[in-house]
Amino acid sequence: MNEGRLNSDYLDNKIVLDSAPGAEVLIDGKRYNYFAGTGYYELNKNPEILKSASEALTQYGISSSSSRSSYGTTKLILELEKEAAMFFDAEDSVYLPSGFLTPSAAIQALALKNNFDLIFIDEVTHYSNQFAAQLTRKQVIRFSHLSSDDLNDKLRKNLKGNQVPLIITDGIFPVYGKIAPIGAYKNIIDKYNGKLWIDEAHSLGILGNNGKGTTEYFGINSESIYLGGTLSKAFGGFGGIIPGKKVFIDEIKNGDLFNGATPAPSPAIAASLAGIKFVKVHLEKRNRLYSNAKLLKDGLKQIGIEVEDSVVPIAAWSFGNRNEMQKFVYELFKSGYIVQLINYVGSGEDGAVRIVVFETHTQEQIKGLLEQIKKII
Ligand SMILES: Cc1ncc(COP(=O)(O)O)c(C=O)c1O
Repeated sequence: MNEGRLNSDYLDNKIVLDSAPGAEVLIDGKRYNYFAGTGYYELNKNPEILKSASEALTQYGISSSSSRSSYGTTKLILELEKEAAMFFDAEDSVYLPSGFLTPSAAIQALALKNNFDLIFIDEVTHYSNQFAAQLTRKQVIRFSHLSSDDLNDKLRKNLKGNQVPLIITDGIFPVYGKIAPIGAYKNIIDKYNGKLWIDEAHSLGILGNNGKGTTEYFGINSESIYLGGTLSKAFGGFGGIIPGKKVFIDEIKNGDLFNGATPAPSPAIAASLAGIKFVKVHLEKRNRLYSNAKLLKDGLKQIGIEVEDSVVPIAAWSFGNRNEMQKFVYELFKSGYIVQLINYVGSGEDGAVRIVVFETHTQEQIKGLLEQIKKII
């Protein structure tokens, strides 16, 4: 490690890993305890998953080198889509080259069928949702973060006649790990005959008894709720997935995003498939992840740091100004712990200190991190 260049500017989004992200990482030959990134089960480097990925590479090559509409569909992709549909108890699913593209594909499909008139969007929903909303060229109205009251207010003021709203939110918001009030949103869409799109990037494989995300977590089932997410986080793979009714999935499969892009590389597809199968049978991993999250959050509370109290393995808070937070993160780095001063949608101008706990972190690592935080504070 070159101490000279590790000033706070260097830390500001410039930590460069020499290894796969996991509970421990290598930087310039030195081991660090890693509490950043979002590979919650470390499946991105799990030997079972890597084996599937490398077998796929040998069988299918890097990629199909053509889009799905030009014979770019492999048996492997179809197997992934079938497995994902089973995972979600859905009729079908569609695989896309990234999670970022899932709202664009889904919302575009809904728009083309005139399924809604106006969009109501959480003010700090993920970039991919905001991007997708803009693409539709429909009116987009922002409501206060997580506020069903403000949403109700905005709906009352803006909807005319029988206009149908589409509400857009994240399931788990990536910076502070807050869970959207899906139950309240469901009541609202029922009242207005509306639709709800949830970006489940951080909730798939994490929330709900079977890891199906926020709808399962809240015990909600509705044909007016649409969801999708990434396979790159909990599942250790890569790409985006949207489960749903066959007619809806077919509409996406008729769309430009599906037909105009080469699917993700075959190792990514195989890893995603293996990752879904893995998460399905290893329920004990989720319990361990939750208990690690509890250990971390209880410990932070004892130190006097308030974070979102839930099973979500993300703990974030903001204090002082950016400079102070940078110093804090740098001090932790020097003592061998990597947490992030995150600047992302919803973090606020100065950013937030975000700690992400994995299922693979040991209790010693978490306690060690808490000990260091206490010392620095
Ligand atoms: C909330 C949220 N949605 C979507 C994405 C995009 O997913 P992907 O990285 O697979 O494109 C991310 C990315 O990390 C995210 O945090």
